[in-house]
Amino acid sequence: MTLETQLCDIGFIGLGVMGKNLTLNLADNGYKIACFDLDQSKVDAILAQDAAERGSQPPRVMGCRSYTELLGKLKSPHLIILSVPAGEPVDHVCHHLIDAGIGADDIVVDTGNSLWTDSVDRERQYKGKLIFFSTAVSGGEVGARFGPSLMPSGDPYAWTRIEPVLKAIAAKVDPASGKPLESHTPGKPVKEGEPCAAYIGPVGAGHYVKMVHNGIEYADMQMICETYHIMRSGLGMTPAEIAAIFRQWNQGELNSYLMEISAEVLDKHDDESGQPLVDVIMDKAGQKGTGLWTAVSALEVGSPAQTIAQAVFARAISSLKNERLKAADILPGPEPVKVDAAKRDAAVKALHDALYCSKICVYAQGFQLMAMASLEHGWKLDFAQIAKIWRAGCIIRAVFLQSITQAYEQNEQLDNLLLDPFFADQIRSYQSNWRRAVADACLMGIPCAAMSSALNYYDSYRSAVLPANLLQGQRDYFGAHTFERLDKPQGKKYHVEWSQPGQPIVAIRK
Ligand code: 6PG
Repeated sequence: MTLETQLCDIGFIGLGVMGKNLTLNLADNGYKIACFDLDQSKVDAILAQDAAERGSQPPRVMGCRSYTELLGKLKSPHLIILSVPAGEPVDHVCHHLIDAGIGADDIVVDTGNSLWTDSVDRERQYKGKLIFFSTAVSGGEVGARFGPSLMPSGDPYAWTRIEPVLKAIAAKVDPASGKPLESHTPGKPVKEGEPCAAYIGPVGAGHYVKMVHNGIEYADMQMICETYHIMRSGLGMTPAEIAAIFRQWNQGELNSYLMEISAEVLDKHDDESGQPLVDVIMDKAGQKGTGLWTAVSALEVGSPAQTIAQAVFARAISSLKNERLKAADILPGPEPVKVDAAKRDAAVKALHDALYCSKICVYAQGFQLMAMASLEHGWKLDFAQIAKIWRAGCIIRAVFLQSITQAYEQNEQLDNLLLDPFFADQIRSYQSNWRRAVADACLMGIPCAAMSSALNYYDSYRSAVLPANLLQGQRDYFGAHTFERLDKPQGKKYHVEWSQPGQPIVAIRK
């Protein structure tokens, strides 16, 4: 029987870079796919790529020209995966599938970077017409092709049907070492190891977790950039020298995909200008919004994730290039200092420790945010599981996620990653260099908003006493907002008429 006469296992809609690669990954894992895109040239492109990759094997992918044709090519009940831009396009496709006759028992899986509340609304909106399920995907185009990290959430029945598919295509990890097991050869997917796909919880939870992943990604990237900036502008190092240091760091605690690619970016030469490419890339950062969503959610939930927010603001200030050019001529900074080789080596070592400690704080912020959101929405997130599925496939994959997995496996009630004995000990050993690196950057006038905010997060979190006592006094002074007392039972409220001398402090009755 040819694929023309067979029914396919999965329908795939949206064949951009991510969609095409996810489809080929599914095909590598033995699934027969019927695919569709509004742009027919994308359908033709994937058919050509399938032909090139499968060699003498029969076709694994079938192209369709309409939603109706796609439904007609699928086994029942249908399983359809979407890789279309987040927002309105997801609803556009769902409505077309309903018009084309999709049934209440058919599953539609959204893999885009959707806002988590949209997934919640969609499950409700399409109930009785189709089963709307979502799985967030991380890993960029290579991850999609050879093994992404997947964060599925939604209807538990749908999960039982999707689980084998997602676990097959996900990145795999060696459970003992926590290291990725990789194959970048088409047609030869990794079969062994622990898959980086786990059911996260009710609808919305998976996209929330992916959103926080991206918030951490923003902060991680920004802190590497700040480290580079200090080395480049403060220590006078060349991009190639910095790349060499990053490669060396990538062998130890700081080993991560982002560290690895940063070294490659710094090493790239531009033939046209004759300079390192990084020196001619415009210093204005773009963003698609997931870091912003994380910062907004942190503010809404009241979870301190200042380093993630700083990373979003750092992109915002970078985009004010023209204003910065003007300001650079007007606003003074400190006199530049000459750094000799011995000082430079010490400064580089301090930066390593600063980056490592800051990174621990960013993960602490991200997990704390997920914990608060989990409580608010009743998701019961499993943090050891989340750390596990971030060990490979995703953009923030790092050796260090094995230690986070262990921290939550040892204590699933851990209030904060900083309180885990391993991480507390790491910071104890590295913190003096962290403080030195941040202080030196401030003295040199080189911004390090993310790394310094991480240090401030650490110092705030470990402070038994913060100046919020004065703040409560200020609030009560001008707004009668009341305050609690340290020497009286918690929850009891007091007020005083501050501007009228001799007024008593009164206990507020409920
Ligand atoms: C991933 C990435 C990815 C990210 C885009 C755009 O996990 O694969 O996080 O989903 O959203 O690379 O990110 P920007 O906001 O930086 O454009």
